[in-house]
Amino acid sequence: MSIRKLVILPDARLRQISAPIPGVDKDLRRFVDDMFETMYDAPGIGLAAIQVGEPKRLFTLDVSKRDDTREPMVVINPEITWKSDEMSVYEEGCLSIPEYYEEVERPAAIRLKYRDIDFNEREIEADGILATCIQHELDHLNGVLFIDYLSKLKRDRVIKKFAKAAKREDEA
Ligand code: NI
Repeated sequence: MSIRKLVILPDARLRQISAPIPGVDKDLRRFVDDMFETMYDAPGIGLAAIQVGEPKRLFTLDVSKRDDTREPMVVINPEITWKSDEMSVYEEGCLSIPEYYEEVERPAAIRLKYRDIDFNEREIEADGILATCIQHELDHLNGVLFIDYLSKLKRDRVIKKFAKAAKREDEA
């Protein structure tokens, strides 16, 4: 297992649409192990494949927030089949936009169809932080970031800040 380098805003790869996964093989399992290691190391509660540069419809999650009772979840080819009318607001962050947090409103509950690590079809209902996290990660697969839900003013400000930081790093 190894920790992968995170793709950081404003890297254009974050705007890419990720491709469906045809099946699970040894290489994909190894890649998923790397994603978990990268996610726990960061630390984060969710990581989409594109955030380590792989445009695959896959993300890892663990909203347990505790080291002793980890609840790792692998989500492949996800599809939201139902969203509640009720909304909820959470302060969100993103490993690709480090140390930036803002409140985002999303449907409070969802139903999700996906494939697990054995490529078996699954369907779950989620609410609370899990519902928010799933929607945030699924957005990544479509090139959407949580800052897209903010006002244009706020979004432009954070993109500019990260663009400047990236330029400084290039010049260093
Ligand atoms: Ni994110």
